[in-house]
Amino acid sequence: MKNERWFDLGPIKKLKKHKLQHIIAGDVLIALVYKNGEFSATSGECNHAKGPLGKGHMEGDYIVCPWHGWQYHRKTGHAKPPNYAACLPRHSVKTKGAHLFVNLRPQNRRAYFPHPPHPLARKVMRRPGPIRIAGISTTPMNKVLKRYSTSEHLLETALNHARSKLKAETKLIKLRDLRFNHCGGFYSIDEKACTWPCTFSQFDEKDTLSEVYEALVFWADVILIATPIRWGSASSLYYKMAERLNCIENQIMVYNKRLIKDKVAAFIVTGGQDNVQAVAGQMMTFFSQLGFFFPREPFMGHSRGWAAEDMNNNVEYVKASSELRVEAKELVERAISMSRSLLGKRHKIA
Ligand code: FES
Repeated sequence: MKNERWFDLGPIKKLKKHKLQHIIAGDVLIALVYKNGEFSATSGECNHAKGPLGKGHMEGDYIVCPWHGWQYHRKTGHAKPPNYAACLPRHSVKTKGAHLFVNLRPQNRRAYFPHPPHPLARKVMRRPGPIRIAGISTTPMNKVLKRYSTSEHLLETALNHARSKLKAETKLIKLRDLRFNHCGGFYSIDEKACTWPCTFSQFDEKDTLSEVYEALVFWADVILIATPIRWGSASSLYYKMAERLNCIENQIMVYNKRLIKDKVAAFIVTGGQDNVQAVAGQMMTFFSQLGFFFPREPFMGHSRGWAAEDMNNNVEYVKASSELRVEAKELVERAISMSRSLLGKRHKIA
């Protein structure tokens, strides 16, 4: 037939050895399936983020994408469930002698399920208004047995000061109040499998890390991150969040797309025992890679040293310390000052 573009895939005997394979046929990617004694072919590119379908696996009659698990019927190309509107281009196959051929001209067009873009996929723009500061408290906490947190107390001190004396808008995000998935490690499959918005934000309605993405990428000019020291490191919740922020950094590496622009980060690190500098240093390295700037003296810390095992005294010390509260206020002042000079003339700041 006119417009057909038959491509020789090779000996049938060899192709029969694999249930599913990824084939580069000229300029077309093909997912070739061999099941129940017959071949079928669809586009090898997933509708979601172009994952290589032929490198996935089969579940019954469905090809499962290796990146995030979308499924497509091997013959119809329709996404699961079968009446789902999304559909892959299908390609016809034929045998000639001992060889299998695929028609590179697809039988149908790729169809996408119509849906509005994810809110996080919108253009990054700063809304006019006062300097906005998002505080992120990363301390894990037992919700039933509430207790005092030294890092959160100093973070609240800084935010109150910014709001009441420096005319900034503030918000406090407590990571422990969010319910979010651990990073799926999609980057480890393929750098392009780590997407913006994060795949979990796109597909898991119960995943509330969007609140952090909204604050970091869209809302805030300054972020203040507070962490306790746990065994010489930032809190486990901090790391759980940080791994999920890989999708922000990855946009720079893969697409040269900077989601963080003209923003400032500063840190509050407290612990009964030592390691303030190492914790702050690690956090600064990570946030610099996301694209944040730092003010002069970008962190404040407190610890009573390695030998201090008396945590109750540590809490009393922080509660009573006017010096630490002054430090928290000065930290946010430096961060705001840095933010003002970054935003400068290009933005309208109240
Ligand atoms: S599920 Fe295929 S690229 Fe995401």
